[in-house]
Amino acid sequence: KRLSEILSIQDLRSVSHSKMDQMAREYYDGGAGDGVTLKDNEAAYDRFIIRPRYLRDVSQCDPSTSLLDHPLTMPLGIAAAAMMKLAHPDGESAVARAAADFGSVVCLSTFSTTSLEDVHKAATTTTSMSGKRPCFLQLYIFQNRETTIKMLNRAMKAGYDAIALTIDSPYIGRRYNEVRNHFKLPSHLKLGNFEENSGVKVGGENLMEDIESKSRKQPDRYDPSLEWDKDIQWLRSVCGNMQIWLKGILTAEDAELALHHGVDGIIVSNHGGRQLDHVPSTLEALPEVVDVIRGRIPVHVDGGIRRGSDVFKAICLGADLCWVGRPILWGLAVAGQDGVRRALDILLEEFELTMKLAGCTHVKQLSRRMLAKRDAMGY
Ligand code: FNR
Repeated sequence: KRLSEILSIQDLRSVSHSKMDQMAREYYDGGAGDGVTLKDNEAAYDRFIIRPRYLRDVSQCDPSTSLLDHPLTMPLGIAAAAMMKLAHPDGESAVARAAADFGSVVCLSTFSTTSLEDVHKAATTTTSMSGKRPCFLQLYIFQNRETTIKMLNRAMKAGYDAIALTIDSPYIGRRYNEVRNHFKLPSHLKLGNFEENSGVKVGGENLMEDIESKSRKQPDRYDPSLEWDKDIQWLRSVCGNMQIWLKGILTAEDAELALHHGVDGIIVSNHGGRQLDHVPSTLEALPEVVDVIRGRIPVHVDGGIRRGSDVFKAICLGADLCWVGRPILWGLAVAGQDGVRRALDILLEEFELTMKLAGCTHVKQLSRRMLAKRDAMGY
């Protein structure tokens, strides 16, 4: 199939399936437990209907926004996903180049298969957008704090604007496919941000590996003892000028604590349904977070976004920006940088058309009044 024949993210998903082996495909598409949250992330978008307004001159439409004073073509970013070279040999650099040319923002995973320096270069070098591009680094804090400090120092030196600390993963969620497929990084690939002998355990690790590793070097894992009071302050002391965002907030209570601890932004996320199963879909968690934050810091959301109208709905419910994970991985698997660009273009065309057909010409006009909940209307 030619890229121009791929019309939707669903098309991209089906074509990507023939491009990956079972281990990679199931690692990308799968979630934790029975996949209740995984499915609900997408299904939640279908529970909201759009209330369009007409006769409002939609001949001009501006879907753009900004992030950290950088212009973005639309309120869309590329979520952190580990090991992108499993999808395509060009991996993270291809994704970063596509994002820069499109005018998006990348959040690089701690477990990238390309070094954070190389990705920063690719993510901030572009011919089509003027000015500097923003760049985020997703962070896990390891039990060996030196591992984390080393990585942060590299990120500061490379010029990252912000780190997104993932707070939903004191342990890895229970993912059956990873256990069944003996998921591990193929031997021809390397982690880009760690020395070979660092002892760092790859995210997406499974029980088999846990058992095997007992006989090997003591692994360096995520630190499960993290706490609001001591660790956010610690992180601040080792992050220099980089902003600190928290990724994985799902409740008003934690949003309040994040604000209280002075973080720079929040990402409402359930890790794409890969951590605790049966937590709320992110679209449903979003309003309670937006309501306690009341515009004091930005609130972003990720999970289940597959169409431009999904972006529209999330923005209507108060998100400042949506991050997408799997659609980018599917695009990457299908055609490297061009496939990622296709995913971004599809989402842009759909978002802009949704805005116009709903009677909006600027992202600032999107509001809760433009949506209704199906149940509330007795459907
Ligand atoms: C992820 N995600 C993720 N998050 C994170 O903080 N660190 C990571 O290393 C990864 N790795 C990762 C791998 C894969 C294969 C997927 C699909 C996801 C979660 C990611 O950042 C994001 O929260 C979700 O992907 C959003 O959901 P959608 O857009 O994939 O539905």
